[in-house]
Amino acid sequence: MLKGKKILIGITGSIAAYKIPLLVRLLKKEGAEVRIVMSPAAKDFVTPLTLATLSENPVEGGFFDHETGAWNSHVDLGLWADLFLVAPATANTLAKMHMGIADNYLLTVYLSARCAVMFAPAMDYDMYQHPATKHNIQGLVNRGNLLISPAFGELASGLCGEGRLEEPEVIFDLIKAFFVKKKRFEGKKVMVSAGPTYEAIDPVRFIGNHSSGLMGISIADAFAAEGAEVKLVLGPTHLQPTNKNVEVIAVSSADEMYKNCRILFTTADITVMTAAVADYKPAAVAKQKIKKKESVLSLQLAPTTDILMELGQMKQKNQLLVGFALETNEGKKHALEKLHKKNLDLIVLNSLEEPGAGFRHATNKVSFFGQNGKELHFELKQKTAVAADLVNHIYTMLTTEKS
Ligand code: CTP
Repeated sequence: MLKGKKILIGITGSIAAYKIPLLVRLLKKEGAEVRIVMSPAAKDFVTPLTLATLSENPVEGGFFDHETGAWNSHVDLGLWADLFLVAPATANTLAKMHMGIADNYLLTVYLSARCAVMFAPAMDYDMYQHPATKHNIQGLVNRGNLLISPAFGELASGLCGEGRLEEPEVIFDLIKAFFVKKKRFEGKKVMVSAGPTYEAIDPVRFIGNHSSGLMGISIADAFAAEGAEVKLVLGPTHLQPTNKNVEVIAVSSADEMYKNCRILFTTADITVMTAAVADYKPAAVAKQKIKKKESVLSLQLAPTTDILMELGQMKQKNQLLVGFALETNEGKKHALEKLHKKNLDLIVLNSLEEPGAGFRHATNKVSFFGQNGKELHFELKQKTAVAADLVNHIYTMLTTEKS
């Protein structure tokens, strides 16, 4: 499958570099040509000899060959590759890539590469959470570099959290997916809802929730990457899709989300509702800011429309409707109730009982339940990987069950 594909791997100075020889083996077995460039610090973690042996190419180390005096052109290497993968990418290298600093050979290759660039951060939890790192990663993504988000788990520091370099098998699958030319959802119209809704109390206050929208945004991105025409109805969040082919319809309240979803649903082949829609809104919105008083303040709440339920009633035979369920107890029972009550084809259950799943995490642990009694259970993984699982499953449903 990767026969003749030219893959350049840039390794930087992280303990996670030990995973790269395994990745090189997987790529070579699949027929890829692999060349390696290492930052000076990377050589403290994994030897050039190991990598040269496995890749069957000498490691590209620096501007000069000190023995022969020959000049190594970073431009040539960047032109040679079909894909440049920087893995593990340390916080230091990410920052330099973002700023355009070129103080080692690997960075000059990055700056002159004309091929697609994937990068897989690996660092300690606190470094990964730092706003500077987040800013650098987002900057690289905005520029079209493809992010392989770090996994959740034990870190070299002894902490547990996000920051682990993805496993070589996962990176290998992502590289293969990158080279798959056939887009499975070309010609399909997909609607996704994501994020929270804000229900106004008065001109300055609202009732909201902690949803970041990441799960739905990742699903929208995954469908767009597979050629679908994607409309994302997105509640208030600072996150945005990375795929330029996702059209965002920004909304704020449940009513606004309902109005837009209703219209877009009529032409959608596939609809995935991940939004954390408020179930209640203030019965009346105060025109002026509510002033503080000594006595207890009561708010009267009125139910919002259950958008998913409405869409379930509108659903035509050729449409596929997927809902999400967020449960704290008896997950399966409640998910199945929602599947039937809302007339869905599939429900994705995320259980808040799982550490690392749900709101405020880049990871999620889900189960799928279909109308045919079929159920699938997945491990805790990145939301981008959950999105890929869902897109794959929907493809299977369309090509087998629904047709
Ligand atoms: N949903 C919706 N409109 C609402 C509430 C929920 O479209 N007003 C959708 C969500 O996007 C999700 C699914 O319904 O796909 C289930 O949401 P969830 O909050 O788990 O369930 P509810 O039906 O609201 O039930 P409850 O809160 O009682 O568990």
